[in-house]
Amino acid sequence: MPKTLILIFHPDFSRSRANRALADTVSKLANTEVFDMQSAYPDNKINTDAEVERLLGADRIVFQFPIQWYAAPPILQAWQNAVLTRMYYISYESEGRLLEGKPLLIAVTAGNTPSAYSPGGANLLPVREILNPLRAMANRCGLPWRELFVVYETMKASDETLHEAGRAYALWLTQIRTQLLQCATI
Ligand SMILES: Cc1cc2nc3c(=O)[nH]c(=O)nc-3n(C[C@H](O)[C@H](O)[C@H](O)COP(=O)(O)O)c2cc1C
Repeated sequence: MPKTLILIFHPDFSRSRANRALADTVSKLANTEVFDMQSAYPDNKINTDAEVERLLGADRIVFQFPIQWYAAPPILQAWQNAVLTRMYYISYESEGRLLEGKPLLIAVTAGNTPSAYSPGGANLLPVREILNPLRAMANRCGLPWRELFVVYETMKASDETLHEAGRAYALWLTQIRTQLLQCATI
């Protein structure tokens, strides 16, 4: 069965409610590793040997994070600078090339409402456009880009609502895995 690697880029996962609820549910899925990047590297100094190995051991990769000021938390940029620069600009033949073809999925949490992320809303742009730099990175790195999973209004959400979001997230990941397996067998 394909292995799913869920990389959490949260500045303080120990205080998270929304990302914690999502992670708690999907960590129970078979062949799924959930890894909290910021607690592994509190000073943003990424161990590239370990993280390249982690990536290459997966069949698909999920970035999960809260949107903060219309972007991902800084630990994701630090990870790209360290890991992707090495894989694609220094060791392409032995590392970057091996990552190509692994799908990249994005799961994000947002404090604001869906309507805020629209032309008439306070945030102007839909979430998928805000994440365009990651889409460009995925294209550059040969990582097939899939639909997003977004949870809105996280700060007002009850524990029950966040638990439901976790169940929806697990279903989303399972359905995409089934699609990938079907594609692989055609
Ligand atoms: C510094 C900061 C910036 C934020 N910026 C945004 C933003 O641009 N858009 C938005 O919808 N929510 C924003 N939020 C709300 C977070 O997305 C929200 O706190 C997060 O989804 C909650 O997830 P957690 O419980 O896992 O921490 C921001 C929160 C913080 C602390």
